[in-house]
Amino acid sequence: MALIQTIGLAKTYKKGKVDIPALHDVTFEINEGEFFSIVGKSGSGKSTLLNLIGGLDTASAGTIIFDSKDLRKMSRSELANHRRFSVGMIFQSFNLVKSRNALENVELALIFGGVPRNLRRKKATDLLTQVGLGNRLTHTPDELSGGENQRVAIARALANNPKVLLADEPTGNLDSETSGEIIQILRDLNKNHHLTVIMVTHDLETAEIVSDQIIKMKDGKIVDQLTKTEVL
Ligand SMILES: Nc1ncnc2c1ncn2[C@@H]1O[C@H](COP(=O)(O)OP(=O)(O)O)[C@@H](O)[C@H]1O
Ligand SMILES: [Mg+2]
Repeated sequence: MALIQTIGLAKTYKKGKVDIPALHDVTFEINEGEFFSIVGKSGSGKSTLLNLIGGLDTASAGTIIFDSKDLRKMSRSELANHRRFSVGMIFQSFNLVKSRNALENVELALIFGGVPRNLRRKKATDLLTQVGLGNRLTHTPDELSGGENQRVAIARALANNPKVLLADEPTGNLDSETSGEIIQILRDLNKNHHLTVIMVTHDLETAEIVSDQIIKMKDGKIVDQLTKTEVL
């Protein structure tokens, strides 16, 4: 059975009396361990879709089944646990706390995950070392490059051992060489640490190399769907 299934998913934002359609009839399945990419122009609904899967927002219609559970039927506390433990998220703009160093940014996520104080420093150090930042532990975001900041964000996203990593244009602010390094980390997490990855990107060429499945979106709809055998 698929790890994630969406059925007829729709989202319409309301701004006063104006309806802004963002997603329409989006149906797909993601298997455990897949690298799944979402491509499409700006405004096509990619972030909206990721936010619904991450439990940051709720759908207007349709269903998301995540690990056999219907997100719509979750209580507030179940949804909070979904956000905290089932998924990790990274963003184009990193979204780190500027006044905190790398260790502290990861530790914040561990605090939310209920990890006891005496274990947090070691766990944060291990996570940052895993993404190649063992020598930058006490640097703040301003003292790190874009690629290094995204590594901190990845370490933070992994803090509470999520099943799925949601990456919203993770290389959107990075040069091509650094982008390649970040993609390589995501690929390693997927291949060697059994993390399911859902990545939004503008870069179809890279998506074709790393993905098991790609959906192309336009105006809130899936317009094309490719699987590995078709891609290769
Ligand atoms: N919070 C919001 N309120 C109103 N409209 C929104 C909101 N977020 C996104 N939208 C609209 O929904 C559509 C899809 O946006 P988005 O999911 O951010 O697309 P993408 O990530 O593909 O660029 C766009 O038309 C956008 O303007
Ligand atoms: Mg977006």
